Amino acid sequence: MSSKSELIISKIRNGVVIDHIPAGRALLVLRLLGISGREGFRVALVMNVESRKLGTKDIVKIEDKELTKDELNLVALVAPTATVNIIRDYEVISKFKVSIPDVIEGLLKCKNPRCITNQQREPVRNRFRVISREPLKLVCEYCGTIHELSDIEKYFGLA
Ligand code: CTP
Ligand code: ZN
Repeated sequence: MSSKSELIISKIRNGVVIDHIPAGRALLVLRLLGISGREGFRVALVMNVESRKLGTKDIVKIEDKELTKDELNLVALVAPTATVNIIRDYEVISKFKVSIPDVIEGLLKCKNPRCITNQQREPVRNRFRVISREPLKLVCEYCGTIHELSDIEKYFGLA
């Protein structure tokens, strides 16, 4: 409840709090949600704070921005322990644990340069199927190349 992170960062009125992110992954979570910081809404990051459950954790707070459950579940790819809290008028009105979807579409790029999804002629939407959750393994549905967490980090420039 009143963890030390509360001293660093205030409560928000409306928005989304993504809590229990493994320490050091907050930036990756923002990249995954497509948030660059240039959109205008307020974003707060807390990194490497104490957590009873995880030892240390990161927290991301996004104010006045609507995110769908499907968008938020993508966070599970890099932060499987994360909890999403939807905040309205300072109250937590709903809370859920993120869960890794079975199929990831239009988010990542296949690392195989010869994959049809990387050819200019015919734009094909990326589609990956999750074949393992721990450790994370995604397979490109077009060429079968396996992608891991480190590939996601590389894709978002955070490896
Ligand atoms: N929070 C916030 N602004 C609010 C309400 C809550 O930023 N107006 C944040 C809290 O700081 C916390 C998270 O949302 O990081 C979840 O809040 P709450 O459910 O009250 O905390 P806990 O009970 O500690 O959550 P959990 O059981 O999920 O650890
Ligand atoms: Zn491919």
